Amino acid sequence: MKRISVNDTQLNVLDAGHGPPLLLVHGFPLDHSMWARQIEDLSGDFRVIAPDLRGFGSSDVTHRTVSMEQFADDLAALLDAVGVTDKATLCGLSMGGYVAWQFWRRHRSRLNGLILCDTRAEADAPEAARARLVSADRAIIEGVGFLADSMIEKLFAPSTLRDRPDIVEGTRSIMLATSPAGAAAAFRGMAARRDSSEILSEIDVPTLVICGEHDVISPVDEMRGIAQRIAGAAFVEIADAGHMSPLEKPREVSAAIGDFLARIA
Ligand code: MLT
Repeated sequence: MKRISVNDTQLNVLDAGHGPPLLLVHGFPLDHSMWARQIEDLSGDFRVIAPDLRGFGSSDVTHRTVSMEQFADDLAALLDAVGVTDKATLCGLSMGGYVAWQFWRRHRSRLNGLILCDTRAEADAPEAARARLVSADRAIIEGVGFLADSMIEKLFAPSTLRDRPDIVEGTRSIMLATSPAGAAAAFRGMAARRDSSEILSEIDVPTLVICGEHDVISPVDEMRGIAQRIAGAAFVEIADAGHMSPLEKPREVSAAIGDFLARIA
């Protein structure tokens, strides 16, 4: 891992392998380690860069609010800081996908392709946004334990919850290690994020959409709809996986990403 200064913060970044650059962007409230198997599987052929976003993992924490635009600007600055001059493919899961839409809006000239995993294009409905702001305050007051308790069951397919306590408990540990201020800042940023549905038809880089069959946070029908609105996008449904498809079915997700990258390289 490296510590890299970007904008007004320092990020903890894994940078492995050589070849066309692949930027892996984690979900909420997690860190780069959710991509461990993809890093292992893909760094033989690609330069894989997997940061902890500000406020997560071992990166520095920014208080109050971090917008999806700020995360996207951090990623662009990170590419500069680690000397990536070629166009990169950005692969984001869930909140990482919210960041990917902003990266497209603000830094599209740096993109060779997009991979959207288990994410949504729509903004929060007003009630959901209000609930996030309440959760942000609650995280500061009482810590992130309630978050892990309320989210964990929604993240995985029934078979993962039943048969893979290692994955479920490993994820819970990462959540519990998240800084309350970091989680709160991202909650506020997600609550305020723009709707990205209208940009789908503008996306003109090769795009892959991946969704776990049992994802209840970003369901298959919604994600298939996202793929249908992006010209030429491929859609891959991962059988027997939920929202955390890269963790639950790592071989299948790595293969989907690897095949896509081999096609567009
Ligand atoms: C995530 O996995 O990043 C979260 O479920 C995103 C969200 O809360 O909308």
